[in-house]
Amino acid sequence: MTANQPTRLTIPKPDDWHVHLRDGAILRAVLPYTARHFARAIVMPNLRPPVVTTAQAGKYREEILAALPSDMVFQPLMTLYLTDTTDADDLSYGQKEGVITAAKLYPANATTNSEHGVTDIKSLTRVFERMQRLGMPLLVHGEVIDASVDIFDREAVFIDKVLIPLRRQFPELKVVFEHITTKEAVDYVLAQNQTKFLAATITPHHLRINRNAMFTGGIRPHYYCLPVAKRELHRQVLIRAATSGVPSFFLGTDSAPHPQTAKESDCGCAGIFCSINALAVYAQAFAEAKALDKLAAFASQNGPAFYGLPTNKETLELEQVNTPEPDFKPILIGDGAQIVSFKDPAPLQWRVVGS
Ligand code: NCD
Ligand code: ZN
Repeated sequence: MTANQPTRLTIPKPDDWHVHLRDGAILRAVLPYTARHFARAIVMPNLRPPVVTTAQAGKYREEILAALPSDMVFQPLMTLYLTDTTDADDLSYGQKEGVITAAKLYPANATTNSEHGVTDIKSLTRVFERMQRLGMPLLVHGEVIDASVDIFDREAVFIDKVLIPLRRQFPELKVVFEHITTKEAVDYVLAQNQTKFLAATITPHHLRINRNAMFTGGIRPHYYCLPVAKRELHRQVLIRAATSGVPSFFLGTDSAPHPQTAKESDCGCAGIFCSINALAVYAQAFAEAKALDKLAAFASQNGPAFYGLPTNKETLELEQVNTPEPDFKPILIGDGAQIVSFKDPAPLQWRVVGS
C-alpha cells in the first residue's frame, strides 16, 4: 500500500444488488449479516418452490422483514423468477404496488433451484416487451446450459447466443448481467457503452479467486459457485472493471448460503456465503489495486443510479487493520447444521468499523 492510500474510508452505505437470503432458519441466520452492512438488497427468488408471482413475493418480503432483528433497518427489494408461463400483467401489478423491483432469468437447470427456469426464451416475448415499457430491470444468470459447452465457456457463449440477440430485440430493456466472471463479459459491457440499459454485477470472490482456488491441495467446495471462477487473466480484468468507476459495474455479492453438509458432499451445491465479510473483501481488492477512491462508486452509487433509486444517506466506515482479521466461525442454523463463510485467500486487512 502506498503512502497516499487511505487506511480509513467513509462511503455512503452500500446496497447489495444480488443476494440469496433463502427462507426459514437460514434466512434468520444470515439476514443480520446483510442488514448490518447494506441498506437495501435485490433478493433472489430461487427459493424452493421459486417466487413466481407478486403474491408470493409479497409474502416472502413479509417473511424477511419478520426475520429482521428489531434494532436493524433494511429494505429488501423483491424479484420474480421468470418461467415459461410468467404473466406480464402480474409483473405490472407487482411494480405498481411497489412489491417487485426486477425479474430474474435463469436458463432452466443452470444453477441451484433453477429447474423451473426458462426453457424457451421466445415464450417470454410479451414479458420482455412489458418490462421494457415499465423500465423494470431484467436480471440474467448469464450461462448457457448446453452440456456440450465447456463449463468455463458458458458465460462467453451466453453473450453470443442469448444476450446479443435479446438486446437486439429489446434495445431499451434494462439488463443486469449478473455476477460476471470473464473478460468477454467485461468487454461486451464496455463496448456497448449503454449505462442506462446495460450493467453488470461483480462478486467479492470473483475479484479474489481464480479457478485454481477450487483445487489447491485437494477439492475445495467452499470456492465452488456458479458461474465458476475462471483463469487469472479474467480475475485481473474483473478487478480493472470494478475499480474503473465506470457506472455499468456495481456490487452484487451473490452470497449464496448452503449448509456445510450440502457443500461437502459427493454432489456439492454451488454457492459461496460471503455477506459476512463482503465489504472487507471488496476493500481489500480495491486497496490492492490502489483504487479505494473508486469503492464508493462501485459499492454505493452506480447500483442505485442504474435502478433509478437515491444513494443512501447513511454512511459506512472501513478501516485497515494492523493485525489481520481472524477467520469467521461457521454460522449456526440449528440442529447442528452450519454455514461456512468465504475465506479470502490472503489475511484480511480490512474491516467495517463498528461491527
Ligand atoms: C446460487 C444459489 O446457491 O442459489 N449459487 C451460486 O453458485 N451462485 C445460484 C446462483 O445465483 O446461480
Ligand atoms: Zn446468485
